[in-house]
Amino acid sequence: MSKAENCRAPEHVAIIMDGNGRWANARGLPRAVGHRKGVEAVREIVRAAADAGVAYLTLFAFSSENWRRPEAEVNDLFGLLKMFIRRDLAELHRENVRIRIIGDRVNLQGDILSLLLEAEETTRNNTALTLVIAFNYGARDEMARAMSAIAADVEQGRLKASDVTSALIDGRLDTAGIPDPDLIIRTSGEERLSNFLLWQAAYSELMFVPEYWPDFSREVFFAALERYASRDRRFGGISDKAVALGS
Ligand code: FPP
Repeated sequence: MSKAENCRAPEHVAIIMDGNGRWANARGLPRAVGHRKGVEAVREIVRAAADAGVAYLTLFAFSSENWRRPEAEVNDLFGLLKMFIRRDLAELHRENVRIRIIGDRVNLQGDILSLLLEAEETTRNNTALTLVIAFNYGARDEMARAMSAIAADVEQGRLKASDVTSALIDGRLDTAGIPDPDLIIRTSGEERLSNFLLWQAAYSELMFVPEYWPDFSREVFFAALERYASRDRRFGGISDKAVALGS
């Protein structure tokens, strides 16, 4: 058993899976091959997260800005997600994995929407890892949809303006009921959040690793969990060590 499996795992890890295209480019291969390898990394990391005792794993699979990519690549990414669900749903269900989808469901093609709903429905009562797939997701879009629903409730007298608290907003986001991510990892050396979980990331530890997503293996993931375990999270307070020392 590795050290990562021994140390206390973060409850929620969220990952920006970046670098499929560059991984392929570096090998003179089409970008589509990079995305295919990316799905293999998804399979490996879902198992690794469950083995490490992570309760929630969120993967950024398609952002609301990814529509700007060439149509062929968008279709390819949709096709890969559909294939992943068709091929892996039964096994994930056997492994007691619960699937949640976050992102805007309006404007999704009927077949992908029904597959996503089927994945959520089939695994609804599972109790091992919760795999949260962010699909057609953008944090500003998520917040705008939540604010609009809250404003409609205020307009129609179901809520007062003074009822709008941070907890109420939490409950209106796509991530309602999911704890905030303790750790957000982005692969490929880029160091930004790119409209991912902006509200929920308020106190997340951020980690940027150089590996392209297809090279993000179980070992690299466990090394990231070990680095996380050595960080001192203070949530705006002071560290336990400083309290103990009275400094
Ligand atoms: C970033 O690489 C990756 C994506 C935009 C999509 C990630 C999707 C998958 C791994 C496949 C489907 C997902 C699941 C959950 C089965 P990039 O294309 O931005 O790489 P680049 O920055 O090097 O061009």
